[in-house]
Amino acid sequence: MTYKLLLLPGDGIGPEVTAEVERVLNWFQKHRGFAYTAERALVGGAALEAEGAPVSKATMQLALDADAILFGAVGGPKWDANPFDKKPERALLRLRKELELFANLRPAICFDALKDASTLRPEVVSGLDILIVRELTGGVYFGEPKEITTLPNGERRAVDTQVYTTSEIERIARVAFALARLRSNNVASAEKSNVMVSGVLWREVVQTIHDKEFPDVNLTHILADNCAMQLVRRPKQFDVIVTDNLFGDVLSDEAAQATGSIGMLPSASLGAKDPKTGKQRGFYEPIHGSAPDIAGKGLANPLASILSFAMCLRYSFARVEDASLLERAVEAVLNNGLRTGDIMQPGKTQVGTKAMGDAVLASLDAMAKS
Ligand code: IPM
Ligand code: MG
Repeated sequence: MTYKLLLLPGDGIGPEVTAEVERVLNWFQKHRGFAYTAERALVGGAALEAEGAPVSKATMQLALDADAILFGAVGGPKWDANPFDKKPERALLRLRKELELFANLRPAICFDALKDASTLRPEVVSGLDILIVRELTGGVYFGEPKEITTLPNGERRAVDTQVYTTSEIERIARVAFALARLRSNNVASAEKSNVMVSGVLWREVVQTIHDKEFPDVNLTHILADNCAMQLVRRPKQFDVIVTDNLFGDVLSDEAAQATGSIGMLPSASLGAKDPKTGKQRGFYEPIHGSAPDIAGKGLANPLASILSFAMCLRYSFARVEDASLLERAVEAVLNNGLRTGDIMQPGKTQVGTKAMGDAVLASLDAMAKS
């Protein structure tokens, strides 16, 4: 079996961190029988410049054909003033929607070596391991109407539409419950059922799926604003948090910052399993952005991208041992005191992107031998 990968490095630090992932891919090919072919294509601002759209038709086709997609980052100040449909971020939204990547998995893990790096007290975050399961193809991101119109009195009026159907809520709830079973078996479902009817339906459907299919999992319902507060108050009370597209966007940034290692966190976006072939689309990206201020300087932290590839090994290819090997290699590098600028601490050794990649490879070599 040869895996077909598509690499979409994108903008800013995207290409630099993706280059380190490619070295890791090679290592797994050489040492662990990970046979793959990799196509490369442009997305975001890079694609706008060269191809006139944030993601071209040809690239969409490559994405549809790939077994898994490794994505870097998109966006930058150069395109900030672009009209809505010419913003680099549209690439991400189109890929999510057309590949039907409805389940976004965002782990917020506090690495032991980095527990002093959080703005929260070490005892609050030490050992933190949360998984945010964000609905990714519905809600206010895609609901229609979505428009700015001019009223008869000349005033302008903007509308975004929050919309969810039963089946959209059911499938994301199933993902969250199934993942909780592999962890501590707790799901918190966050919505605003006190003010939004979409929240009322969300809560009802999550409860129904729980009662019918996952009665063994502990389920709590929490209002999204309270969830935001609890995440900084006592984050370790959470295991899996399932929530909609917009709340998931906000809560996942908050959870990431709580870990103190936002530059370290990977993510996976998954589609539905094809009932016939068992195939499931997988899209992997670091949750940090394109960081234009440090782009091209060799300073970026490649670990979130490398850990995203670990998620790819686990979720797209069921290579659980390889995934955990890679995760342990990254932890070893941190334990050895190596840090990129974003996670630098007193007394540690600051390195650049490439040296961090070198260290991960060396750590993989060492582990493969032992
Ligand atoms: C994210 C990002 C995106 C989102 C942007 C870049 C469109 O913030 O993946 O969390 O809002 O979903
Ligand atoms: Mg976001």
